[in-house]
Amino acid sequence: MNIAVLGSGTIGQSWCALFLAAGHQVVAYDPDSAMEASIIRFIDSSKSALQSLGYEFAGSTERFQFSQSASDAVRGAELIQENAPEKTHLKHQLFSEIEPFLDPRAVILSSTSGITLEELQAGLKDPSRIVIAHPFNPPHLIPLVELLGNKATDPLVMGRVRAFYESLGKVPVELKKSVAGHIANRIQAVVWQEALHLAREGVASLEDIDKAIANGPGIRWSIYGPNQLFSLAAGDRGLEAFVEHLGPSFQSWWSEAGRVEFDPKTLEIVRDYAKQCGDDLEAMKAHRDELLVKIIAAKIAVAKGEPEE
Ligand SMILES: NC(=O)c1ccc[n+]([C@@H]2O[C@H](COP(=O)([O-])OP(=O)(O)OC[C@H]3O[C@@H](n4cnc5c(N)ncnc54)[C@H](O)[C@@H]3O)[C@@H](O)[C@H]2O)c1
Repeated sequence: MNIAVLGSGTIGQSWCALFLAAGHQVVAYDPDSAMEASIIRFIDSSKSALQSLGYEFAGSTERFQFSQSASDAVRGAELIQENAPEKTHLKHQLFSEIEPFLDPRAVILSSTSGITLEELQAGLKDPSRIVIAHPFNPPHLIPLVELLGNKATDPLVMGRVRAFYESLGKVPVELKKSVAGHIANRIQAVVWQEALHLAREGVASLEDIDKAIANGPGIRWSIYGPNQLFSLAAGDRGLEAFVEHLGPSFQSWWSEAGRVEFDPKTLEIVRDYAKQCGDDLEAMKAHRDELLVKIIAAKIAVAKGEPEE
């Protein structure tokens, strides 16, 4: 399939690596010419991770082209993954540039984290051909893609889009209506707020809160969501019994949940913790990706019934 990737920063580069690894033809557009070398470096550096996940063409750049013209990049493309900066006017400007050159069946997939579909559609003459396809960073590894269409969306488009991401090994989920932050980021936001609240209240340090998440619920969450997990925690009557048993406690914790703002006190806690974590973010990223690949590979192997390597 011919795919155009518009905006080739953090998210665009990661999509490029994945689409190429899955055997597609990719043209990447970015107004910054330095991005061409940067994408190629990223494709190269992601090779071994994508190979471990079973992608046949990981690291391949034979089917890759870079363009500094958005209209050239979209010519002949069936899918356009849009990853321009998170500014509505920039995305609208990009849409008006490409719309006259789109194939009749082309679909725009926007990676936007926070701009609504309606706001995006306002920048197109034909709003039926755009959907939100929000990845979770880094998109070449993390399976989740949050999809959103609406009444203006071509009824056949959602099926095509879902099938496309599934063919890449992704796990698409579909939102039934627009909500700021989609699903996963809203849930992360609530968890982060409570973590900061507990640190502000002096209940625990951010270091111990991070340890508690990463070594407790975080490990379980990579297997099942909270509803599934709680159905395993109250005997053989499942989730209903869990609600009877622990529902009142959860309800009282909900009512005590903290509200936090980035005021001077919260910022001081965050800054102190950042200093304590050090500045070797590249090493942390490498560690995260190494374990992510192992976890995702294990999930793939178990789903296929294959012995793990
Ligand atoms: N970073 C994340 O964790 C994350 C996760 C999911 C979704 N997203 C979404 O992905 C999109 C891109 O985010 P990012 O983190 O990759 O940003 P980024 O700043 O890393 O990359 C944006 C790229 O777009 C290029 N650009 C600038 N003007 C442009 C234009 N007019 N048209 C096309 N490209 C242009 C820039 O040169 C840059 O390379 C945003 O909509 C963001 O909300 C980001």
